[in-house]
Amino acid sequence: MNKAFITGVTGQDGSYLLEFLLDKGYEVHAIIRRSSVFTSKRIPKKYWNHENFRSYHGDLTDSSNLHALISKIKPDEVYNLAAQSHVGVSFDVPEYTGEVDAIGTIRLLDAIRDTGVNTRFYQASTSELFGGLPGTEPQSETTPFYPKSPYGAAKLYGYWVTINYRESYNMFACNGILFNHESPRRGETFVTKKITKAVAKIFKGEQDNLQLGNIDAKRDWGYAKDYVEMMWLMLQQDKPVDLVVATGKCYTIREFTEIAFKHVGINITWKGEGENEVGVDKKDGRVLVIINPKYYRPAEVELLLGDASKAKNVLGWESKTTLDELVKIMVDYDLEHNDYGFD
Ligand code: NAP
Ligand code: GDD
Repeated sequence: MNKAFITGVTGQDGSYLLEFLLDKGYEVHAIIRRSSVFTSKRIPKKYWNHENFRSYHGDLTDSSNLHALISKIKPDEVYNLAAQSHVGVSFDVPEYTGEVDAIGTIRLLDAIRDTGVNTRFYQASTSELFGGLPGTEPQSETTPFYPKSPYGAAKLYGYWVTINYRESYNMFACNGILFNHESPRRGETFVTKKITKAVAKIFKGEQDNLQLGNIDAKRDWGYAKDYVEMMWLMLQQDKPVDLVVATGKCYTIREFTEIAFKHVGINITWKGEGENEVGVDKKDGRVLVIINPKYYRPAEVELLLGDASKAKNVLGWESKTTLDELVKIMVDYDLEHNDYGFD
């Protein structure tokens, strides 16, 4: 039986990857960081209680813990998904973000090197590495990097140490350079989930309006459930390879908002400009979207659009879910549920 070790299992991607690997017959081991509340609510009970799943307390800031677990478990595959993953928050906690996202990655790589465990390593790299170099889209594996946040800079370190350990120690280590991917399990402070949750609440009369920051940034949004398959596929290749994973289509936050409201029968029209712009219900003039500069970032990544043709050539992988389908999946979920609460 193949053994996998996951960091970040309680997150959006980790929870889908856990399901995917258990369904494939893997024995899955994962660290969970200590919290004063339960953090496992994205993981359905069927998987949380699965006989082939074991969880341990652990943290990417604790090398001795990582070393001991890698040495004991001797996994065949390691998926490093744990991170302080919020770009906006990384401006508030830049040092911690570097500690987890950058140094945490080398802690895990070095635990593998030092224990001599023969394993394959997946690093959750990101389109935020490309950041804000205008005119470089669509971004591929050969596009120059220019991170625009402490998060992006920390992830750049993680990207390079993954390559450095591959080249220096002949490790099977890969970077998946994933563009934004969303789902009903997306963290509630990321823009898509914030929008779909608010749309459902506004539709049900439980919330008055939705407050957003920069609605003209563009993102290439895929479906997280499709993307975790790609992480696994990357580790099944003969040789380690770094790959961009994206849909090849991008939309503004404004467009995402319009599509989400449309799904509950509300047509949004925009009035005003800049901080004074509002999104109004065409039918009755209700102000449903307000711009709040609190959500602006000190620096913004305006446009991310990925070119995943290498992934298609190497792995035969293509994104399956359109934006309309993704928005429908998310809004429908939020209409039915107030929380993740998977059973
Ligand atoms: P997420 O939902 O924010 O999950 C992050 C996970 O990391 C959670 O399980 C969290 O635990 C854990 N974590 C945070 N700090 C930790 C620490 N110090 N030690 C151990 N675990 C820690 O993120 P996601 O959307 O699933 O993304 C997964 C990975 O892919 C992240 O590395 C992210 O940066 C990267 N990525 C994401 C996207 C995307 O669009 N989603 C795109 C490209 C790359 P708690 O549950 O306790 O908070
Ligand atoms: N979070 C948030 N909240 N973002 C907002 C808001 C708001 O109220 N209003 C506008 N935005 C804009 C942000 O300024 C950004 O341009 C865009 O919406 C997307 O923001 P997020 O959903 O927070 O995602 P992100 O693109 O910054 O980062 C995500 O994707 C990266 C891959 O490109 C995260 O998942 C990162 O971990 C990941 O690496």
